[in-house]
Parts: sequence; C-alpha cells; structure tokens
Amino acid sequence: MKIIKTIAETQSYINALKAENKSIGFVPTMGALHEGHLELLKRSKKENDISVCSIFVNPIQFNNPEDLEKYPKTMKTDIEKLESVGCDVLFAPEVNEMYPDEVSKEYDFGGLDKVMEGKFRPGHFNGVAVVVKLLFDIVPAHNAYFGEKDFQQLAIVNEMVRQEKIDISIRPCPIIREKSGLAMSSRNARLTDKELAIAPLIYHTLFAVKNKIHELSVAELKKWAINELHQVEGMEVEYFEIVDTVKLQPVNSIHEVEHTVACVAAFLGKVRLIDNIRLS
Ligand code: PAF
Repeated sequence: MKIIKTIAETQSYINALKAENKSIGFVPTMGALHEGHLELLKRSKKENDISVCSIFVNPIQFNNPEDLEKYPKTMKTDIEKLESVGCDVLFAPEVNEMYPDEVSKEYDFGGLDKVMEGKFRPGHFNGVAVVVKLLFDIVPAHNAYFGEKDFQQLAIVNEMVRQEKIDISIRPCPIIREKSGLAMSSRNARLTDKELAIAPLIYHTLFAVKNKIHELSVAELKKWAINELHQVEGMEVEYFEIVDTVKLQPVNSIHEVEHTVACVAAFLGKVRLIDNIRLS
C-alpha cells in the first residue's frame, strides 16, 4: 500500500491512475478502523480498479474538544488492517496540510442540518462537508463509500455533492454490527466492559420499535423507546427521532411519507453513540 501525506503528491498520483483509465474508489475515514470500515473498502475493491482510504481526524467537525482529544488514534494497526484488505493507497495528512488557513466556508443545508446530530452538535456538519469537499478535490474518485450508521452525514454529503456539482457516485453501505447487535463504531473502543455489555440495548430498542410500528403511534413509539433506554443506569438519551429518509424531518405518522428511519443518539458515560433502523 502506498502511503502519502501531502495533497500535491496524492492528487498527482490519483490523476496519473485516472489517465490510465483506472476507476478509483474512495473511503474517507478518521482512522481507528473497524470491520465496518473494512467492509467499505472490500466493496470499493470489488467495484473499482484502485481503492484509496484517507485517515484524517478532522478537528473542525468536533464541537466538543474532549471528544476530539479522546478520539482513538491507532495508525499502526489501521495500516495493517488496510493492507489486509488490499487497500492500494492511504492518504494520511497532518492538520496543517489540510488547513493551512482558517476555514470560512459556510454551507446552507436548508433543514437537513437542523435536526438530530445537527441540532445537538452545532457546526459539526459544516465541518464534515468542508473536509469531504476538500478530500474529494484531493482524491478525485469515481465512487465514494459511506456507512449508513451516520445516516444524516450521508444525506449531508449527498447534498454537498449536489451543491458543489462534484462528479462522484456516493455509495451508501449497510451498518455493520457486532454479534451483540451493537453498531460498529470507532467510539466503541472507549467503552468500559460494563458499558459494552449495556450498549447493545440501543439496537435492541430500535429493533423493537420497528416491530411495534403497527401497534403504537410515532409519539408513543418515541416515548416507549426513550423510557426503555433509560431503564439502564448510565444510559442518557440525547434524542430519539422518527424522520423521513429524504429530508430527515420528524414525522407524526409512519404513513405520512414513503420511507422512515428511527435515529437515536445516547451517551453511555462520556461516550456518545448513534444508531438507526429503517422502519418502512
Ligand atoms: O464518518 C467519518 O469518519 C467522518 O465524518 C468523515 C466522513 C471521514 C469526515 O471526516
């Protein structure tokens, strides 16, 4: 695997491959790689000639300085994992390479960034959109792969690509779960054994909600789910929303729109976890 740290070298390397008519797949990450990331790379390998991964812990998408400071950094094992799935190129820049100047870009995502993650993490999605745009400039791939665990991020990336008129296909990939049902996340590494034992309740609650959609109203489902999660000591729900899958706006009834998704963010101790399940 070729490891590159500068923008200029990455751009010229990828452009040379494109000039040879190679198709490029791209998996942007913040490192601390787990099976979920590796699944994205495996799909990229299947669908492209060359697969590129980036590892960059993007400071401007963290609204909480402690979260940024505690974000797991595991470059050595990340490189081993990438090599094990046959990743061709790793772009791993430093912060001053990505942001030599202050960032002033402000995206307008309409209502997309006003709910759920956007509501509780001000500035987060602007930071995501800025870095993903920059990464797409540096790695002008044909296809880019994102996990559906970050459901709202996926909608933001699609909207940014639409606004910036970037010629790339965004490929959503299903959530990868532990045997326990817990959605794989780099943040899981920060959970204690006790928290790890409790964390699967998030998925089990989402799953139960899916089974109850014909029995309970949306308001009742939300109330039930939050109550269920709060039964466990140490679990603090930040939001539990049922939204339409396109505009991500809360619905009053499951039948109001064609497709809905239940999304949750909850703290287990100091670790914030998110998950979701499609309902209809
Ligand atoms: O999902 C992530 O890991 C990050 O938000 C991303 C898309 C790599 C941007 O920093």
